[in-house]
Amino acid sequence: MSAEDQKRICGVAAAALVEDGMLVGLGTGSTAKHFVDALAARMVKEGLKIRAVSTSTVTEDQARALGIPLLTLDEVETIDLTVDGADEIGPGLSLIKGGGGALLREKLVWEASRRCVVIADAAKHVVRLGKFPLPVEVVAFGHTGTSRRLFDALAECDIGAAPRLRSRDGRPFITDSGNVIYDIACGVIEDPSALADALKSVTGVVEHGLFLDLADEVLIGTDSGVDRRSP
Ligand code: 5RP
Repeated sequence: MSAEDQKRICGVAAAALVEDGMLVGLGTGSTAKHFVDALAARMVKEGLKIRAVSTSTVTEDQARALGIPLLTLDEVETIDLTVDGADEIGPGLSLIKGGGGALLREKLVWEASRRCVVIADAAKHVVRLGKFPLPVEVVAFGHTGTSRRLFDALAECDIGAAPRLRSRDGRPFITDSGNVIYDIACGVIEDPSALADALKSVTGVVEHGLFLDLADEVLIGTDSGVDRRSP
């Protein structure tokens, strides 16, 4: 089964977890896109009634085009279920997210959610986090200086990687919240929790892509179907 098919079957399986009347968090990325499609299909076929909060403008556009009623995060208190993709899934359902640049809004939506389900193709499962460059969202003002302080903070965690400014079409990539992203090729992250603390302590860092103790369940697409895992 192709990675795309694995993503699709996970999206469909996650859409089956949604119940009538739920407030649903919509993730971002190619896997979350399958979930949003499958959710909209259930609304049409079964008359399922839900409302949703999006983690990005891209997903918002998709949801709006499919007729999914949207609320902003400020209009809600608690989201029943959020379904989102991940770039790496490590021990205890620790995650790296943000490959699509939506990590800040994703984390805000996840933290407002009662239950968070990750959907991913089998290649996302890793023994240790760190092969995928860790995205860190940084305030655009003075970001070059922030990247130098990030380098120092990384060195204190024995990570000798230089943060790399993400670009698109030759210009810095700007997030939905107007920030830039630095990607950090950490290599094996020995202590994700210590690294998360160190990154958050740098002035100018808004958020990082380590999602620790946030995922309740993972649905992984495999050749034999969807494999469900809890921490
Ligand atoms: C976006 C994300 C995505 O969930 C992550 O990049 C996975 O994307 P995909 O489903 O396309 O592999 O964190 O910020």
